[in-house]
Formats: sequence, structure tokens, C-alpha cells
Amino acid sequence: VSDNGAWGVFYLRGSLSLENVTFHGNRLGSLPPLAQDPKPLYLDPSQPVNARVEDLLSRMTIEEKAAQLDIVDGEWLREHFKVFSYLLEEPGVGSVLPRFFAIGGPEGAAELINKFQRFTLEHTRLGIPLLIGTDCPLGASVWGGTIFPCGLGMASTWNPELIRKVGEVIAKESRAMGVHQTYSPVLDITRDPRWGRVEETFGEDPYLASVMGVAMIRGLQGESLNTNHTLIATPKHFAGYGRVLGGRNGAFESVSERELREIYLRPFKAAIKEGGAKSVMAAYSEVNGVPAVASRWLLTGVLREEWGFDGFVVTDWECIEDLHRAFRVAATYDDAIEQALTAGADLHMLTHLDSPMDFQERLTNLVRSGRLPEDMLDEAVRRILRIKFELGLFENPFVSPKKADEVVGSEEHKKLALQVARESLVLLRNEGSVLPLSRNVSSIAFIDLNDDVEAMMGWGYDWNREGVTVLEGIKSKVSDEKVHVLNSWDFKEKLEESLRMINQSDVAIVVAGEPGHWTGESWPGHERDRASLSLPKYQLEIIQAIHENTKTPLVVVVLSGRPLAISWLAEHVPAILWAWKPGLKGGMAIADVLFGDYNPSGRLPISFPHTVGQVPVFYNYHNYTRRTRYIDAPKEPLFEFGYGLSYTEFNYSNLTITPRKVRIGEGVKVCVDVENVGNLEGAEVVQVYLRDVVASVVRPVKELVAFKKVTLSPGEKATVCFLLTPDKLSLLNREMKRVVEPGTFKVMIGSSSKDIRLTGSFEVVGSP
Ligand code: NOJ
Repeated sequence: VSDNGAWGVFYLRGSLSLENVTFHGNRLGSLPPLAQDPKPLYLDPSQPVNARVEDLLSRMTIEEKAAQLDIVDGEWLREHFKVFSYLLEEPGVGSVLPRFFAIGGPEGAAELINKFQRFTLEHTRLGIPLLIGTDCPLGASVWGGTIFPCGLGMASTWNPELIRKVGEVIAKESRAMGVHQTYSPVLDITRDPRWGRVEETFGEDPYLASVMGVAMIRGLQGESLNTNHTLIATPKHFAGYGRVLGGRNGAFESVSERELREIYLRPFKAAIKEGGAKSVMAAYSEVNGVPAVASRWLLTGVLREEWGFDGFVVTDWECIEDLHRAFRVAATYDDAIEQALTAGADLHMLTHLDSPMDFQERLTNLVRSGRLPEDMLDEAVRRILRIKFELGLFENPFVSPKKADEVVGSEEHKKLALQVARESLVLLRNEGSVLPLSRNVSSIAFIDLNDDVEAMMGWGYDWNREGVTVLEGIKSKVSDEKVHVLNSWDFKEKLEESLRMINQSDVAIVVAGEPGHWTGESWPGHERDRASLSLPKYQLEIIQAIHENTKTPLVVVVLSGRPLAISWLAEHVPAILWAWKPGLKGGMAIADVLFGDYNPSGRLPISFPHTVGQVPVFYNYHNYTRRTRYIDAPKEPLFEFGYGLSYTEFNYSNLTITPRKVRIGEGVKVCVDVENVGNLEGAEVVQVYLRDVVASVVRPVKELVAFKKVTLSPGEKATVCFLLTPDKLSLLNREMKRVVEPGTFKVMIGSSSKDIRLTGSFEVVGSP
């Protein structure tokens, strides 16, 4: 067993209590002789990173190299360390993926990571520290971590500077615990709200997702990785993962190269070229008939050769195994490993309980037998080692648990979570200015149909349940006795009494929406995709009963990780506030908007259909005049991309476009005056859309090319300018070359993709 832990564990599983078994020795039998050199070059921080990498690589056995390309599940290392610690012994392992959910706080998490690191350093010949990677898309994944709104909520802020700060906080809190890599941001574009993972995305538009993604990556990675407050960002899932068939997770359509490049790859390209992301996660999806993780075209051709990516590719969970098990493009697991490495995948997620060391042993044998060139293995290992040196891990492998406790969930971070939550809220309707409410309101009927911390926190609920509810938020604004709480049980058992109570109140506030676990990642037995997009039936019935039987002004707040088809609400409920999953401070942010302490400024990053049968419905569809409508539904969405109301109003005037005629390769400057003509301070998101009027390939009817959020006091006017650089005018021509073609471009500026206030045009001249 001590010589071959893999098979030992495999056979013992289920037949013995693992806690009673101790594994001795290391996975290679006896330790190979320690480095003769007492001061090897790779341990000298004054040497350049490349020299350190080459020196270390030259000392490594094939087993040690294969080990660097593997990730071990930190959860069972934590639970059964005595049993599985041998996985960290010579030849070691490259990375550990801890999931901290169950651990009591950041101090414990930091201690655990220190323990993994110490054990690795003490039980391996070369002492290569572990890379610790985990998912921190919404905040540090630990009890007490600051949880921000879900991806759709973050995107609804249309405020990249704020999202950069979110990245900084996530990095600060996670790195303080010893984490080095976050598997985020999620840069999948999706046009299907049935998909449970829609909540994780930045929505339907490649440009908005690019801007948000780059901002997040800059926040996460900062200026340098060799700090105590920055992380490696891992944009995912590369690529086409959001193009789910029927909205079902893991059901893919093969995407054409044009669609891939025009839509799905764009945020990734920006993440690499502008954001400088150091890692990328290869997706489960299929690209042009080839699974992404086996696509050399994608992982090497596009990513490295075209975009100049110099980081490492981590696979998604058991993606390599799936080449054999699921996609059936590999006859054996060995074949799958060979295909993935050849394509350009570097780090394998993940070695798990059923087959510890299987990946490493197979990879070693593939190289030993000559099936995989050692050079190829070396190249992947180099990428992992380089990042470990850049992180400063050889000098600083440990963190201070006490410091972690101070940093995680600090008041300052919570303040940021509140601000992001406020800006993520989208006011969809406000007929007769029901909102904002006055604090002098004498009675509020509060109907709790979904005022739930899980609905508020999304995935973050797995590790942090301290979220503020809407009721708590409201009670921080008005005294307790003014708020009368009802729930669905009251409507079932005491309908008349409940309606009477609402009739006697100044306002009724309903918190509705989907239970938190209706969105997120689906897998068999854990489904989160939907075939319908309606509000839960009982909720709609209660809201309809209130509408029909009372005269009380009605406000509906919806917590949901996906857009829903809410035509009835949109027609009958005077005030609707869309809150997504707003995170730790969600309830407070919602109360701030309800009572006018914050003027809503969120804008939809994804279209809302009238009905599920309209899906996919999105704003940037292609020119096609014969596009029909349905017999039984409109062709436009219920609420369009970019839509959102404010308590004030903005006027647009004086559009200038200079020059009106440019040569290919030159840019255009577009300016507009925006004035707050209402009585309250507010923020407007000025959106610029472009249309290439005639082109060699079919183009979208409009494309977002720039935007800016401006805050204006009542009566204040600002001139907002945008530079439309040549790349914003470009397209992929019939030869798939990115070019700017001569002709007319229409400029549309407005408050949403539909609410276009001013239009103009310019000409591009010359030959492409
Ligand atoms: C599978 C998910 O698809 C991916 O997004 C995540 O990073 C990994 N699991 C690790 O948790």
C-alpha cells in the first residue's frame, strides 16, 4: 500500500473506516536523493524567474513533473488528512482545490492551507509549494467572506470601476487565507435564462461582459501577483459553454467559428489581451465538433498563438475524463490525457477519491513510453512553475491565520458589498411614482413570499448565512410597529383577514421570486435549469389576489437568479424592483431604494422575455427583414437589454460626431449632452450602439460599443464623450479576417437598446 497508494485506497474504500488506516512512506517508495546542491539556483529569489524555472525543471523526474499538472480535492484532504496526506508526499502535487464552506472561519481556512503547504514542503524532495485554487466568484468562499451580488447583479451596475474594487476585495480576502487562484470571472455569454448558470454570467452582450470581465481581472490580479492581496484570475468557461441547448447545463450545440468569435470568444479575448488574465479554464463544451479541452485550435491556436496568452490552462472538473466517458472522442483515459495535453491543457481538475493518482501515473507512463513527448510535458510544467515563482510562493508559502481573520469580512468590505448591491438593483416599473416611499408612511403590509437569505446570497449561502433580509432592511428605516408581516400561509388560511390588513395599510410590499436553489450549477440529482420562466404559481396567485381585492399601492421586489417571464406583473403591478441575488447586504440595499436613500441606477444586462417560448430573445440579432412575429407573442422582449428606470429623468441633446468622414484605421469621437431634468440626484447609463449599414457579411441590427454611467444633480448637465476606435467598427469578413469596411455607420445613443434618444451617422472611406 505504501508503494502504491492509489490502488490501496481504491480497494479499501467502503470496506474499512479510513480513519483507522495510516499510510506510511511516500508514493515512490523511498525518497530519491535530495538535491546535492545545498543552495540550488531555483531557491534564489534574486535570479530571474525563467532561470529559476529552468533550473528546477532540470532537477525534476517525470513523476515530479506529472504531479505538478494535477489538482487534488482539498475537501477530502481536510476530512481525512491522516489517510490522504500521502497524496502530498513525494512526488507531490501541483495544486489543491479546497472548498472551505464547512470550516469555521478564515483563521481555520488559513491554518488548513498552511498545514497542506508545510506537509508538502517537508515531504517532497524539491519542496515545490502548492498552488491553492478555488471558486471565489462572489467573494471569498469561507464562512464570513464578503458576498457580492451574483454575476447578473454585478453586470447590472454597468459600473466597471466598482467591479474592479469587488475584484480587489475578493483577492484580498482570499489571498489572506492562502488562496492563490480564483476560478472566476465567469465570462460565458448566454441568451437563455432557462439555464441555471445564467446567474453567474454578465449577461447576453459580449461588450458589456468584456468590460466587466477586464475590470474584475484587474482588481483580482492587481499590478503584481507577488503580494499578500492579489489572485490569479481564471476566466471561464473557455469557450461556448453558455450556448446551452434547451437551457440545460451540459447540453451543447456545436458553435460555428464565426459565432464563437463574434459572440462567445470576445470577453475572453479582452480578458487576455486587456486584462492580462494568467489562467483560463477549459470548458465542458464542444467547439466546432471538438470538445474544448481537446481543441488544439482553441487552446493553442487562438489562445496562445493569436492572443499571446502566457498563463496556464486549467481544465474544468473531470473534463479530461469526459473526453473518454462522455464525449466518446477518446477510446481510453490514456488517449483522453494525450489529447488534452496535446491541445494545450496544463492543469488537470481533478484527482478524486475513486482513482487517486490515476492521472499522474498514466501521464508518467505516456511520457515514459514515448507516446507523449517529454518536451510537451515540460512546457506545461514550466507554465505552472512560472506562476508559482511569480506568486512568490517559494519565499512566502505561509500566511498568518490571525491576519486572515482581520481581513475577511471587514466593515470596509461590507460597505462595498452594500454599494454594489444598490447599484445592481433594476427598477422595472414605477407607475404613478409609487416609489420612493416616504419614511412617514404609517403602515406597511409586508408580504414575505421569498424574503430568504438563500435567495439573497446565491451560491455564497453555502458558506455565509449572515445576509440581511428585506424585512430587516425595511425595519431599519421605519419603526417595527408600522410593519405588518404576512406570508403565504396567511393567504391560504386567513385570506379575508390578510386582504383587510393590506387594505388598511398605506403600501403593500411583496418580496417574491425564485428560491435560491432554482439557479446555479445543475448536475444529475441537483437540477437548477427550468423549462418555464414563470414566478412560482402560488406567488402569482397571491399577488393577483392583492391586486384584485385591495386598492393599496403595490410594490413587488423580485429576488431571482434569472430573468423571469412576468408579463402579468408588468401590466398590473405599479412598482417592480428587480433585485437578482444581491448578496450579503441585499436587504439593506433594497430598503435604501424603496425609501429613496438610493436612486436606482441598475440596467438590465440581459433581455426579459414575455414568455418562455420567446427564448432566445436578445437585442443584437442579425439584420433580417423577413423576421416574423409569433401568432401569440410579440417579437420584442418584455424588458430589453439596457433597460432600467430612475426616480429622476434625463434629457439627451446635442449629439456631435467628429469627423463625419474618416479613413479606415481612424476613429470617431461621439459626444452628447445629458441633463438631469428631475428633482433628485441620479445616475444615467449612457449607451452607444452602432450599426454597420451595409457590410460583406450579415451584421447585427445594433451592437453596444460604449457606455458610461454619469451621476448628475437635479438640473445638472454633462457632456459625455466616447472614442469609437477602429476595432469597434471592425467585423470578420468572409475570409474571417478582422477588417473595417468602408461605408456608412449609424450611431444610436440612448438609455437602453430600445430607448434610443439620438441618432447620427458617419462614413468610413478607403479600401479594406
Ligand atoms: C465545475 C464548474 O463548472 C466550474 O465552474 C468550477 O470552477 C469547478 N466545478 C470547480 O468548483
